[in-house]
Amino acid sequence: MKFLVNLILISSYISQQCDSANIPCDLQQTKFGFVCKCSADYCDYLEEPKLKADNSWFAVSTSKDGLRFSVTKGEFGSLESIKIKDYHESQKGREDDDPFNVDALLLDNARSLFQLYGGNNSYFNLPQRMSKSSLTIDRSKTYQYIVGFGGALTGTVAYLLQNLKPSLQDHLYKSYFHKDGIAYNILRTSIGGCDFDLEPWAYNELPQNDKHLTNFTKLDQRDLLKIQQIKRIKSVAGSDGIKIMAAAWSPPPWMKSNNNWTGFSSLKPEYYATWAKYHLKFLELMLSKNITIWAISTGNEPLNGVIGWLFIHFMSLGWTPKNQAIYLNDFLGPAVKKSQFKNVLIFGNDDQRYSYPTWFQRMNSTRPTSLNYLDGLAVHWYWDDIFGPELIDATLQLMPNKLLLNTEACVGDKPWQTHGPELGSWERGEQYARSILQDLQHNFNGWIDWNLWLDESGGPNYINNTVDAPIIVNTSNNAEFYKQPIFYAVGHFSKFIIENSKRIEVKLSSTQNSIDAVGFKRPDDKIVLIIFNSAAIPQDINLDDSVRGMFTINVPARSIHTILYM
Ligand SMILES: *[C@@H]1O[C@H](CO)[C@@H](O)[C@H](O)[C@H]1NC(C)=O
Ligand SMILES: *[C@@H]1O[C@H](CO)[C@@H](O)[C@H](O)[C@H]1NC(C)=O
Ligand SMILES: *[C@@H]1O[C@H](CO)[C@@H](O)[C@H](O)[C@H]1NC(C)=O
Ligand SMILES: *[C@@H]1O[C@H](CO)[C@@H](O)[C@H](O)[C@H]1NC(C)=O
Ligand SMILES: *[C@@H]1O[C@H](CO)[C@@H](O)[C@H](O)[C@H]1NC(C)=O
Ligand SMILES: *[C@@H]1O[C@H](CO)[C@@H](O)[C@H](O)[C@H]1NC(C)=O
Ligand SMILES: *[C@@H]1O[C@H](CO)[C@@H](O)[C@H](O)[C@H]1NC(C)=O
Repeated sequence: MKFLVNLILISSYISQQCDSANIPCDLQQTKFGFVCKCSADYCDYLEEPKLKADNSWFAVSTSKDGLRFSVTKGEFGSLESIKIKDYHESQKGREDDDPFNVDALLLDNARSLFQLYGGNNSYFNLPQRMSKSSLTIDRSKTYQYIVGFGGALTGTVAYLLQNLKPSLQDHLYKSYFHKDGIAYNILRTSIGGCDFDLEPWAYNELPQNDKHLTNFTKLDQRDLLKIQQIKRIKSVAGSDGIKIMAAAWSPPPWMKSNNNWTGFSSLKPEYYATWAKYHLKFLELMLSKNITIWAISTGNEPLNGVIGWLFIHFMSLGWTPKNQAIYLNDFLGPAVKKSQFKNVLIFGNDDQRYSYPTWFQRMNSTRPTSLNYLDGLAVHWYWDDIFGPELIDATLQLMPNKLLLNTEACVGDKPWQTHGPELGSWERGEQYARSILQDLQHNFNGWIDWNLWLDESGGPNYINNTVDAPIIVNTSNNAEFYKQPIFYAVGHFSKFIIENSKRIEVKLSSTQNSIDAVGFKRPDDKIVLIIFNSAAIPQDINLDDSVRGMFTINVPARSIHTILYM
């Protein structure tokens, strides 16, 4: 019955809005929360709302309760606080017309119970009043500019995509890369295999000890699949283009001290030049297929083969900062700069925060000119709960002119976390929102997630290392996928903070620390604010813009908002 009602609602919506790109989420309850279901015939999209006048604003909102990119409009200077209704409040009217909606009745009962025990704020120990926060936006004070947002096209991602019906594939491409989706503009991919592949692999595995890489003359079948997919991604994204960042996980075992894909390892000194040539060969072969690589890194997670090898069982290559300085300064750096690929950016480290800034200081003391070859610094988020952003601040102070990107993130990698998806988990979406906010407040130029999508168990890959992803595809019917809260959490940033936006000052004053925010001025001169309420109750937020004036909104419990105005 519910299904039928949904179908009628959806089809009447489509017939009313057939020339509009705005299609609401098909919200489905799951064990851990809510997802938006997409099938070949239906998937949610949002065209960026237009601002009617100079003093108008709009808010796009997502909440634990079930809002997904819902739009509220208002104007500066209105005295009343504008309430952003949460999902179940905004559904009330519809539910009254629909006596069969059992879910809604159950939810209402749960709410009454909540009010019974929590109404006097004794049982749940909630604050008596909602707190009031204010954001003061000063667009004359500017910080870093934004390069973009993206995710990783791993072997697993490419493999899962290929198995879906073409019409469903189109929705995956559009959801991530179209401006009515979440408008990603960066893709990370591996040079050879990575941990999310169906087996470990590299170019020129045979013949062994082949210093001149005589057998690295063409790309692998797996690359050809990715290239075909990248071409579709580019056409979906439109003319602005997609920046591709590539990194190697491991060379063929014969180049390594332990002659193995994984474990404690280093590059054999006699193959430093070969490994640099290997990277250039990859750039050349990709270019021959019309794929321009925007950036490479000095190698994925170099510490996995030095300190991580006891518990990390996937492809890796160990580097100390000393050896990497020699490799970069004497081999990779000069080889790239002397080649036709001199404009390809080189990012350093590509590992966790805890190695900042000592990694670079040690490189510097080994080869003082090595850091000149780096255009950017790449950081992975996995231990950010323990290692604070001060490490990044200190690094940027030493090297203020480098780009700074988060290049990998996912939940479910830790022994104490569910390995694999917690389908619909709001908490995991919040982890992304918190992390992106913090990084942007600490001058990151962009943010790249890990696997774009995974299967129901968070794989597959050759080491059964399962984690979560923003989108989960249904591999038992290959006919549906589910957009998790993580997808919308990233989307609140990626969709609206377009390339070359500049961060502006947003001062926050609050009686509680449940509100966090960051702001940008876009190249089209619009101001975009991302606001996160982590409290379990609604909050009043007063916004005061140095040019435009003030307005107040009331945001629901556990919610994320993007606000846009001129
Ligand atoms: C609510 O709490 C206040 C103080 O904690 C108490 O005085 C009052 O009686 C309570 N009201 C109800 C309806 O329980
Ligand atoms: C070259 O590589 C291919 C696999 O890509 C392998 O089948 C072949 O045996 C290799 N050639 C030599 C001479 O080792
Ligand atoms: C490679 O390393 C793994 C894990 O340490 C080990 O089980 C395997 O035997 C090694 N393979 C070779 C060829 O040494
Ligand atoms: C590469 O792109 C150019 C221009 O966009 C086009 O003319 C050419 O046919 C493409 N080549 C391949 C191999 O796709
Ligand atoms: C590299 O070393 C030089 C000389 O000691 C120093 O001036 C510079 O700040 C160092 N750079 C970094 C990034 O540590
Ligand atoms: C991964 O799981 C499959 C199926 O349960 C099993 O056959 C395989 O041995 C596992 N592989 C590893 C590396 O643990
Ligand atoms: C995937 O599809 C199957 C078959 O249609 C269905 O039984 C299953 O519930 C779906 N999985 C999820 C996570 O919805």
